[in-house]
Amino acid sequence: MSKKVLITGAAGDTGRAAVKESLAVGLDVRAMVRKIDERSDALAKQGAEVVVGDLNDINTLVSALEGAEAAYFVWPVAPGLINATVNFALAAKEAGMKAVLNLSQRSADRNSTSDSCRDTYISEQVFNWSGIPVIHLRPTYFLEWLLYPWQLPFVQQGVLRMPVGKGRHSPIAAADQARAIAALLKNPEGHIGKTIPLSGPVEMDHEQMAAELSEALGRKIVFQDLPIEEYIASLKQMGVPQYVLQHFSGAMLDYQHGHMSGADNNIELITGKRPMTVGEYAKLHADVLNAKQ
Ligand SMILES: NC(=O)c1ccc[n+]([C@@H]2O[C@H](COP(=O)([O-])OP(=O)(O)OC[C@H]3O[C@@H](n4cnc5c(N)ncnc54)[C@H](OP(=O)(O)O)[C@@H]3O)[C@@H](O)[C@H]2O)c1
Repeated sequence: MSKKVLITGAAGDTGRAAVKESLAVGLDVRAMVRKIDERSDALAKQGAEVVVGDLNDINTLVSALEGAEAAYFVWPVAPGLINATVNFALAAKEAGMKAVLNLSQRSADRNSTSDSCRDTYISEQVFNWSGIPVIHLRPTYFLEWLLYPWQLPFVQQGVLRMPVGKGRHSPIAAADQARAIAALLKNPEGHIGKTIPLSGPVEMDHEQMAAELSEALGRKIVFQDLPIEEYIASLKQMGVPQYVLQHFSGAMLDYQHGHMSGADNNIELITGKRPMTVGEYAKLHADVLNAKQ
């Protein structure tokens, strides 16, 4: 019988990809969603058992975790992470979970001006105090940024718009994180108690990223740097929630100051295959990225 695992946030970017990769490595996947819709139908079609659960309601978590040996925990960039963590840690402890993968973030930091970065740091500590076997994953910026509703229209018009100056980074795709998540859910031994940074294969600044996007998409993409306040004001106009805006204000400053620099090879060490480059990701999503406005 294959090992049963619970994947929360299964309709979201990393959760959806983690379901796909976990099924691919032969795990028996229970996918937790907030509601049944076309996204959950797609998960069921792939072979996952779909359950409805709420990280704010511990009793839904107890039943979602029943019979599972390992679980993936993710919360969106939104208020409520600490409450969700406490609920999940308690339910996982009661269920005798052998491994919990916690999707943290590279910029988890109790001294950050971003509420999200501070909450994420506290969430890691709560999991640690709980005594459950936990692995913290700290990814850097996702390549999915290119597809987020406040970035995509600009990329489609040939502009990579980020208030990060010469800040360097090595962005990572959710699909590559998911391969690591699946491998760790399957074989957590040797990783329990660790905090694992996850990044893409190549560190670069945004001029270099724009050049790589231009090459991959076959048209000119120009990097546009702008003041953080101006960027945040324009995202506010697009309806980006306040908690996210507050997070970006702090995180972009950290970015400018080099907090996102560096690259690691942890995805390759865990899965045996290196993660996608910016160009490879762009080619994979060229239909959307090159779509006319
Ligand atoms: N984006 C980046 O560059 C970046 C970088 C580093 C770290 N991270 C971290 O990545 C995490 C986000 O991961 P992601 O991109 O996979 O998130 P995501 O796409 O926003 O997915 C989050 C999922 O959580 C579900 N959810 C929301 N409230 C819930 C609740 N009360 N109970 C159960 N499920 C709930 C959502 O359901 P619905 O879809 O139904 O709303 C959604 O499917 C954040 O913690 C962030 O700090 C992101």
